[in-house]
Amino acid sequence: MTSEQQEVFEPPDEIVDKAWISDWQAAEAAAASDPVSYWAERAGELEWSKPWDKVLDDRKAPFFKWFTGAKTNIVTNAVDRHLKSARRNKLALIWVSEDNSKVRTFSYFSLNREVEQMANILKAMGVEKGDVVTIYLPRIPEIFFAMLACAKIGAIHSVVFAGYSAEALGTRIDDSESKVVITADGSWVNGKVFALKDIVDEAVKFSPTVENVIVVANTGTEVAMDTIRDHWYHELTRLPIAKGHCETVQVDAEDPLFILYTSGSTGKPKAILHTHGGYQVGTYTTLRYSFDIKPEDRWWCTADPGWVTGHSYLVYGPLLNGATVFMAEGSPTYPYPDINWQLIEYYGITGFYTAPTAIRTLMRFGDAWVTKHDLSSLRLLGSVGEPINPEAWRWFHRVVGQGHCPIIDTWWQTETGMFQITTVPAMPQKPGSAGRPVFGQQAAILDEAGNEVPDGTEGFLVLKNPWPAMMRTLFKDPDRYISTYWSKYPGLYLTGDAAKRDADGYIWVIGRTDDVIKVSGHRLGTAEVESALVSHPGVVEAAAIGLPHEIKGNAIHASVILANGQQPSRELEEELRTHVAETLSPIAKPDTFDFPEKLPKTRSGKIMRRVLRARALGQDEGDLSTLESD
Ligand code: WTA
Repeated sequence: MTSEQQEVFEPPDEIVDKAWISDWQAAEAAAASDPVSYWAERAGELEWSKPWDKVLDDRKAPFFKWFTGAKTNIVTNAVDRHLKSARRNKLALIWVSEDNSKVRTFSYFSLNREVEQMANILKAMGVEKGDVVTIYLPRIPEIFFAMLACAKIGAIHSVVFAGYSAEALGTRIDDSESKVVITADGSWVNGKVFALKDIVDEAVKFSPTVENVIVVANTGTEVAMDTIRDHWYHELTRLPIAKGHCETVQVDAEDPLFILYTSGSTGKPKAILHTHGGYQVGTYTTLRYSFDIKPEDRWWCTADPGWVTGHSYLVYGPLLNGATVFMAEGSPTYPYPDINWQLIEYYGITGFYTAPTAIRTLMRFGDAWVTKHDLSSLRLLGSVGEPINPEAWRWFHRVVGQGHCPIIDTWWQTETGMFQITTVPAMPQKPGSAGRPVFGQQAAILDEAGNEVPDGTEGFLVLKNPWPAMMRTLFKDPDRYISTYWSKYPGLYLTGDAAKRDADGYIWVIGRTDDVIKVSGHRLGTAEVESALVSHPGVVEAAAIGLPHEIKGNAIHASVILANGQQPSRELEEELRTHVAETLSPIAKPDTFDFPEKLPKTRSGKIMRRVLRARALGQDEGDLSTLESD
């Protein structure tokens, strides 16, 4: 075992004493002895208008069902039930604009009013239970209203990260057959306007299903409005259709709540489907236990609602726990490198949950930017999206957490809906290890043949038990659900990650084993980047790989075969970057390029990424015997 694996931080007594879970060994053992009862007890802490007949229905596994027969709605638990007590007056959401000049706050009472208004408008547009609504909004309060409004009326939201290109957005709108798109005139990105509405116009140009586009005025930018299809949100809210109470529809626990497109190893993005009942139980419980969340907390999750972290732990998890959510529109370094610390100080944030890339970026600016602020309100810190290197962990702990805030590293996926490997605050933490499987879960690390590997050995990370917030299927593609996640080791959920376990049962996640790259914590498929590259007229063939990067975790390297007559140059590289930004997303831009004569491939024509990686890193290319012969 390495010395890093020996490094252990014990949580301070005052944290352990106040935590929901103080005796974690007992809680873990109790859940392990009967996971289904454990989840039934947690579900019992939420409201159901009709109780379930069965907690877990595994008759059609791996198409698991949870809380079958029950009626509920995640909005009943995230909003409505808080209105019945004094909590109605408590702040549900505090929002600040990118330049920190505007603040908007909503009590649970006024959040409900906003959600009702948006829901009334959607209903008036003919949105019905089971319809998909695409949401393409920046981090502004309306994204909360839109997601909750869809859920309230039983519609399915499909949030698309407001940094995707028109093509990526259009594909997602068409695949989900959305009738309504909710967007804004623009979003602020480092002081400049990113023209969201223009992108929507482009995306829906040929869309057969979109009837209405709702546009939130956010940047004040002038945009083209189609007189029939497009509607300013602030004008809609003045109409009589927007007014009045809107009942929260009680849906079946297994009715879909949202789809979220995410990148896989091959081809087009997969739409992960989550449901009301299990998802609410999973996100409520994991946020409560891992971050010890209480109604008096002010919780800041920096993730964008365009990703799963924003869904589970910015929007739903904290509201289900009756906490106060803090949301900032901007990035961690704009307008200045201490914007985060200033906001934490001013708003008295108690829990701060962010990504290793942000931590590494902020660390670079030096301690003084942090220490000039009073961060004593902080109790707990969290990390998500990619492995956190011990150096960044220690800095986060020592400087931001002032040596006494536990750091909760959380490993999970769009597919899992909720944390799967993490710690609760009372557990000792090891920098670089995500921790232990959540209560009720068991993980294993397997070799190719499916045998458990010895402790300290790398292998494929799998999950053994079903859990309430698991995806139910891939929307419109159940076969791919089975083949991607449940085929390599039948009966076990394949995560796609490599990991090791140590003698204490802590899991050390290494990274993806497939063709998914995590760049700054964002999930991208090599296939998507490659198809963006080959859509450039100067490119014949392309392969994308991830290479280690000090700040971003991974950076994209592209090997590109150029068309006849094209010459490699810095200008061409820049042109290809811009092209990828425009056809996929700025987050997918390759950092580095090479322009070989041909790509290394196996005899069956598969690109050998291992060889490309070795070449790019200047390492030994290893066994090339399976390379295609000339
Ligand atoms: C990676 C994000 C190490 C992992 C919530 C996983 C992590 C993928 C961690 C899912 C972590 C996420 N430590 N790796 N704490 N959290 N990952 O779907 O490779 O965007 O499979 O969900 O992110 O990415 P996704």
